[in-house]
Amino acid sequence: MKIKKAVIPVAGLGTRFLPATKTVPKELLPILDIPAIQYVVQEAVEAGIQEVIFVTGRGKDSIEDHFDAVPELEQILEERGQTEVVKALRQIADMIEVVSVRQKRPLGLGHAVLCARDLVGEESFAVLLADDLIDSDIPCVRQLLDVYEEKKESVLALMRVPAGEVRRYGVIKGQSLSDRLYEVEDMVEKPKPEQAPSQMAIIGRYILRPEIFPILETTQSGTGGEIQLTDGLLQLARKRKVYGYEFAGERYDVGDKFGFVRATIAYALKRPELNGQVMDYLKSIVENRSG
Ligand code: UTP
Repeated sequence: MKIKKAVIPVAGLGTRFLPATKTVPKELLPILDIPAIQYVVQEAVEAGIQEVIFVTGRGKDSIEDHFDAVPELEQILEERGQTEVVKALRQIADMIEVVSVRQKRPLGLGHAVLCARDLVGEESFAVLLADDLIDSDIPCVRQLLDVYEEKKESVLALMRVPAGEVRRYGVIKGQSLSDRLYEVEDMVEKPKPEQAPSQMAIIGRYILRPEIFPILETTQSGTGGEIQLTDGLLQLARKRKVYGYEFAGERYDVGDKFGFVRATIAYALKRPELNGQVMDYLKSIVENRSG
């Protein structure tokens, strides 16, 4: 059966971006003129996903509103002759079917995924984290879906990270099966470099079988007092095969300040109307610093 649904948890507190996230959900912070969440939903759409399930929390309603129609604004823009803008706004509203469920307390990513259980049902599904923007020729989730369609088992997106950075990720121990494909044997959440089983980090794209739900239901809170998805995945890997796929593409962690700056520069350089100006500006900074 084809995977139709994607869960996007957006109920986190976004503490690393306070005070901006005091009233604005971090998922709506824009990279240029597009909120981070829109890039992520776009990736799901391009991968063939038909329904997005947002796991939301308090103060996050504007994320759903972003994917809704805005007839009053469209009318004003129409009257002003700004038809291209109207078209762009309609495209966002028509992008995909959106439903949502509340996570009443931010008890962790594993708990957030569990909140989507009734809306997902007994199907495999994708999970995308809005902190991770991935620029790639083939949407990252599509790359994982291709593995799922062959193996019919859960698949995690992997990225090789420098040894000094493993402590920021869930890291796998795995057996390499082919060029980019691994069979996951073990996982450690945020290990010290000397305790990391590899440099292959799990990043925010997953294809999960529904067997993850009963596991998450009994998963105890772990690191940071939160129910960690990684702990659930580890138990899943003990029951069934779990694969890891080193996706092709560039990933930006926009939940982190430097990652946010990197993404803003990289996405600006991809825009023909901004490329020249941004490049000149970057060069002038480097010249002034070294001069
Ligand atoms: P993070 O821990 O990176 O996000 O969770 P955060 O808690 O929002 O941000 P900081 O660290 O305080 O700045 C990864 C993803 O999981 C979601 C977040 O919204 C984010 O997309 N999440 C996390 C939930 O939906 N619920 C939770 O309880 C925790």
